[in-house]
Amino acid sequence: MTSESAVHPPAPAASKFLPGPVLLLGAPGVGKGTQAQRLMADFGIPQISTGDILRDNIARGTELGRAAKGLMDQGQLVPDEMVNDMVKARLEQTDVERGYILDGYPRTLGQAEWLDRFLSLSDEKSPLVAINIQVDEQELLRRITGRRICPVCKTIYNIYSKPPKHSGVCDNEGSPLQHRSDDTENAFIERMKAYNSLTAPVIEHYSKQGRFRDVVGYRPVEEVTAFIESALRELRKAGE
Ligand code: AP5
Repeated sequence: MTSESAVHPPAPAASKFLPGPVLLLGAPGVGKGTQAQRLMADFGIPQISTGDILRDNIARGTELGRAAKGLMDQGQLVPDEMVNDMVKARLEQTDVERGYILDGYPRTLGQAEWLDRFLSLSDEKSPLVAINIQVDEQELLRRITGRRICPVCKTIYNIYSKPPKHSGVCDNEGSPLQHRSDDTENAFIERMKAYNSLTAPVIEHYSKQGRFRDVVGYRPVEEVTAFIESALRELRKAGE
């Protein structure tokens, strides 16, 4: 017999889903950084953005930053060896043990093959899963030219779709927002050329491996996050 006052054993704690190592792929401005920041908050795993690491090197005036700046401003890719070395150093840190989100890497077949080899030699048990965010080119240009970034907390704004409360100022830090030097129409044209010729084969590479999903990126940010998280759950379930 049961009653309202009967003592029941505590329900087992719901096991927290962890997506493991994730690649976020897609064209410039498609929303990789925005989504990586949301996944990082939801799952407590780090975002590794090669673009952010390079910009940090530029801001600190390192040798790497000086070598990368001209290429980035022109919308060209930084050489594979430089980027692979950066990623190697980052993946050797201990906070990646529960998983991570690679944002903007790999960008060439050479980088993808290097990463596959590096992971096959590491202790990583969980295979990579790849999400390819898709948005049409006209919308990408609007997103790129409208983007503003807080230099302190790295929050990504957009003057059209996600303006700050006070024009030009970060809601969290009160600091003046920045416009990336490669967020111009000319640099965008070059970035799209690099994407179509060098990064499209990377998408094909991971699509052939099977642990891959295309996700619609032109919906509101929260909806895109929900699509991605659901795709990650399906991909991990299929791999069990
Ligand atoms: P990187 O910094 O990686 O730039 P990218 O790949 O071109 O991508 P973006 O950062 O421009 O866009 P995103 O997809 O992150 O979009 P975001 O979320 O900000 O690389 C820059 C350069 O560094 C490269 O050109 C290259 O030179 C070098 N580099 C980097 N990695 C390299 C590598 N692996 N190899 C060689 N070189 C490398 O969103 C964009 C805007 O849209 C924001 O304003 C946002 O608020 C808005 N937005 C986002 N989602 C939505 C939505 N759902 N609806 C409406 N607006 C939205």
